[in-house]
Amino acid sequence: IYRIQELLNAGEGYIGQTVTVAGWARTVRDQKNLCFIELNDGTSFGGLQIVVEDKIGNFEQVAKTNTGFSLKVTGNIVKSPAKGQLIEMLVADPTKHEVVIIGQADPEEYPMAKGVQKPETLRQKAHLRPRGNFFSAVTRIRNNLAYATHVFFQNNGCLYIHTPIITGSDCEGAGEMFRISTIFDNDISKIPQIKGKVDTAQDFFKKEVNLTVSGQLQVEHFCISMSNVYTFGPTFRAEKAHTHRHLAEFWMIEPEFAFADLFDNMEAAEGYVKFCINYILQNNIDDLQFLDKRVKPGLIDYLKDIVSKDFVRCSYTQGIDILLKAQQAGAKFENSEIKWGMDLNSEHERFIAEKVFQRPVFLYDYPKEIKAFYMKVTDDGKCVRAMDMLIPQVGELIGGSQREERYDVLAQRIKECGLKLEDYGPYMDLRKYGTVPHCGFGLGFERLVMMVTGVENIRDVIPFPRYHGSAEF
Ligand code: 4AD
Ligand code: MG
Repeated sequence: IYRIQELLNAGEGYIGQTVTVAGWARTVRDQKNLCFIELNDGTSFGGLQIVVEDKIGNFEQVAKTNTGFSLKVTGNIVKSPAKGQLIEMLVADPTKHEVVIIGQADPEEYPMAKGVQKPETLRQKAHLRPRGNFFSAVTRIRNNLAYATHVFFQNNGCLYIHTPIITGSDCEGAGEMFRISTIFDNDISKIPQIKGKVDTAQDFFKKEVNLTVSGQLQVEHFCISMSNVYTFGPTFRAEKAHTHRHLAEFWMIEPEFAFADLFDNMEAAEGYVKFCINYILQNNIDDLQFLDKRVKPGLIDYLKDIVSKDFVRCSYTQGIDILLKAQQAGAKFENSEIKWGMDLNSEHERFIAEKVFQRPVFLYDYPKEIKAFYMKVTDDGKCVRAMDMLIPQVGELIGGSQREERYDVLAQRIKECGLKLEDYGPYMDLRKYGTVPHCGFGLGFERLVMMVTGVENIRDVIPFPRYHGSAEF
């Protein structure tokens, strides 16, 4: 069985050959003694046009198929007389060609049968969403972004470390963890025969555990032995945020670099994001053209613009100045009390990236009170060497920092943040035995997919979205 992408990409290469394809009918048009089927197998944006002649044995049944039917078809690849496609498949020789109907789909019931559907409607049909143009384009881009991620880090000498999902630590110190409470349902543990024999998760691990919010602390352990490393896995946050940018389960890419400072970190982050965009511009142009037309007009120019410019480096203090001056000049913010020390929210971040600089911006050196405990304290003791990458029309894509590598300063910060030093034994050891300056960042993978596809709601760029109030399947 040939992948349709391979046939379409080969230009005229398969003309004259008899091949077999398999997939799902997008459209079926029956014209008396001919039947036209557009077959799609998900491998490419466009499908393969198939022309079936009535000489074929089961023509009557084939002509009655519909959108959503799964078919396996053997025919001859020919030059297409129709505009807009180079090749098509002709099924005309009853001795060599055939259409096998594999699975039916009742047109009255098939949820994907009717024309263009809105993303929020499609979300209710998670199991069939990838059958449509929109979600299959997003899925192919998501796949290639994951691939490009590994290519980039592997080419730059980083080792892929698998960090755990179950952990006892709270990396961000924000208390947004999903606690793992029991292995078995409480009702089961009350059944007399197994009562007392069932462990809770806490009994099991002899401590309280939760789903990880970030693989950073663990990947740092490997950084302080193996230099440049990264992790790429699912992370979980019990945030009850109902925004377009938050999920309860999302994927994060977290590299960590040894003997490197905050500005090295920015350089790596900029190189990585540009590499990913270029990879998609080169490998998913059909998908991008569709999204440019149907989802976000100007998407391709927006992406080309991002890769063509240097990202800005702007300190938090400068950022506050910019916002204050803009406000004096008449800019309106919902959260209007702008002062040094405040946490910026997405309207401020987007204003800086979109309106002021019109390109991605690294905001760095934030007040330590609004950032996590592990970030390196600056010489004046007021800030930490944190950086956020802010993207026009998206907002925060990356959060990262140089890490505090000095034992005493870190111990002090842990106490200041109300955390228990004894919970960080191994992490502190890294500062005791051969400490080095190091840095890293976390990129929210779904936010990257949003940026590259132009999709506005994060729930439409992940196969099975989990958020407050929803976890289908
Ligand atoms: O800024 P955050 O919280 O940083 C960390 O977790 C660090 N430990 C990373 C590191 O230095 N290794 O999260 C990093 C990124 C954000 O910039 C955002 O893109 C994404 O993760 N993110 C979310 N994406 C979707 N839904 C959520 N609830 C998210 N929370 C963060
Ligand atoms: Mg952040």
